[in-house]
Amino acid sequence: MGERTVIYPGSFDPLTNGHIDIIERGVKMFDKIIVTALKNPSKTYLFSLEERISIMKDIFSGRDNIEIDYFEGLLADYLIEKNVFTVLRGLRAISDFEIEFQMALMNRSINDKIETIFLVPSIAYSFLSSKLVKEIYKFGGEIKSMVPNTVDNKLKEKYSNS
Ligand code: PNS
Repeated sequence: MGERTVIYPGSFDPLTNGHIDIIERGVKMFDKIIVTALKNPSKTYLFSLEERISIMKDIFSGRDNIEIDYFEGLLADYLIEKNVFTVLRGLRAISDFEIEFQMALMNRSINDKIETIFLVPSIAYSFLSSKLVKEIYKFGGEIKSMVPNTVDNKLKEKYSNS
């Protein structure tokens, strides 16, 4: 069997230590992980696609088995394009389960080859989300233990300008 690759899709708006935790667990199980950010023109992101990608490229620079990419449209189509049919997702709490279960089964009904693997992050990050991180920084708070330094700085920069 050839090289085992997994695709880890997400919004990554922005990358948190929870995502990094899942990526580091993923690389232990696979030869290569492609971290791919969704470009959804109908969604408003705090960080542009270029910013989300550059943060991740910066953090994983020099890691040959971690590739940073983006996709538009259906994840299932991106998987075909990459010829990789294993998807990695993090599962934090029961509340994640329902949507993740739906997505995994929908993706599989689009293409029967698609399998989704769930990894559980460290308990320290099990209540962490990009959405809550943004909210905390928006109102002048900070949670340095939950985000990489670059993200902490960029969040402060974003909200000091607004
Ligand atoms: O980090 P997120 O926001 O939880 O990631 C969600 C993501 C990007 C994995 C999901 O929304 C997605 O795959 N979107 C692409 C569009 C698509 O394929 N939708 C059907 C999924 S069943």
